[in-house]
Amino acid sequence: MEAAEQTAQFMDKVAIVGLGYVGLPLAVAFAEAGMSVVGVDTNRDRVVALNSGESHVEDVRSERLRAIIAAGKLRITSDYGLVREVGSTIICLPTPLNRHREPDLSAVVAGCEAVAHYVVPGALVVLESTTYPGTTREILLPIFERRGRRVGEDLYLAFSPERIDPGNKVYTVAKTPRIVGGVTAECTRRAASLYSNITQEVYPVSAPESAELAKLLENIFRSVNIALANEMAILCHRMGIDVWEVIEAASTKPFGFMPFYPGPGLGGHCIPIDPFYLSWRARAYNLNTEFVELAGRVNVNMPHYAFSRIANVLNSQKRPVSGSRILMLGVSYKPNVSDLRESPSLRIMQLLAEAGAEVSYHDPHVPHLPNGDLVPSLPNGGLSSAELTEEELARADCVVIGTHHDDLDLRLVVKSAKKVVDLRNAVRYDLGEAPANVEVL
Ligand SMILES: NC(=O)c1ccc[n+]([C@@H]2O[C@H](COP(=O)([O-])OP(=O)(O)OC[C@H]3O[C@@H](n4cnc5c(N)ncnc54)[C@H](O)[C@@H]3O)[C@@H](O)[C@H]2O)c1
Repeated sequence: MEAAEQTAQFMDKVAIVGLGYVGLPLAVAFAEAGMSVVGVDTNRDRVVALNSGESHVEDVRSERLRAIIAAGKLRITSDYGLVREVGSTIICLPTPLNRHREPDLSAVVAGCEAVAHYVVPGALVVLESTTYPGTTREILLPIFERRGRRVGEDLYLAFSPERIDPGNKVYTVAKTPRIVGGVTAECTRRAASLYSNITQEVYPVSAPESAELAKLLENIFRSVNIALANEMAILCHRMGIDVWEVIEAASTKPFGFMPFYPGPGLGGHCIPIDPFYLSWRARAYNLNTEFVELAGRVNVNMPHYAFSRIANVLNSQKRPVSGSRILMLGVSYKPNVSDLRESPSLRIMQLLAEAGAEVSYHDPHVPHLPNGDLVPSLPNGGLSSAELTEEELARADCVVIGTHHDDLDLRLVVKSAKKVVDLRNAVRYDLGEAPANVEVL
């Protein structure tokens, strides 16, 4: 069979490699758009759970997953061999930092090697993992060429950054414009055509490097602006000025200002990590990305700053941190999700536990926190989420609001707690004002 004929036969079939926060919603979006989807993930427990209709991603309800599996639209497997049956493969694998805080592309490379082994002539491969500019051309392209593929002729290669915001009900996959940059114009055209199945707007750029860097710019923009808000918060506290009022006042300017808010530090897989992909890459061009580094330093310090504010509140009650009972409300890194990656609440709990505090937590999205890497100083067996009762709140010497989940009963919190340190301005946001027992970041 001719290559063109062979891929035409597979054009309505897509493989998604890596079924995490990015890959699973994407697989579901393609399946719901009527395409036939193969999901590949090497985590066998995850494959078993997904195949039995159990979703681990809040944005994908288990019923939705079950419906598309039952309709035969989504097959989930650890077997890369199914890539033989599809016309397009999208790679959504993790891109963490190694212990020297340098890019770790090992999962992406392993995934691409496996895809290259099975991909059919004429197929499209798109990388969605966040990475430094040059990855698609310098790392992926040679993997396929070593297997005899000619990119732009019998294989089409592109980068398209994922912009998903887990938990965001407004800007879903369909409503968020998608950038695509192919190695050749035909690669871009094919990638744009694929994504037009699931999104209302595709924005082509001239090269994968532009698409790769656009994603980093978006995240660095947030990191730098959050760092500025954090520095303002520290300064305002010293000066006795309400930083939240300052930000709201500045936000009344209808042009040239965009509000960012302070907090206990950055969390998630993206904003604490991605900027370092660029600073690492910039060093190869003899350049230090000063904004990136400075923002990183300010943001990394925030859990320590939050710790010092909690210690001061205890001090004002003549209590040392050691031996004090601290109840952390919200341990995931952002509201209404269970994602714990890089969560500042966990870092603060670790600092408190190291200083001898007795730490507990409440989080309806996280029933249990194992000890280990997340919070190494937790007791053996980890901790379970405490029920949010008057007694539990009153027992704590200090209650800390680390994450502002929607269903947190802040009326009960401020009524029952001796002291509250509100790292998110949640009390004033929900109740309009903060009573005297509440210290706002
Ligand atoms: N989470 C977000 O909000 C978000 C948003 C935009 C971009 N991104 C980027 O998307 C990429 C994926 O992130 P994520 O949050 O979905 O990660 P994740 O950790 O949630 O999911 C990755 C999945 O890949 C699987 N996996 C790991 N190695 C594999 C291999 N060799 N073959 C097959 N499967 C393998 C894992 O088992 C896991 O299920 C990262 O580059 C991230 O920076 C994430």
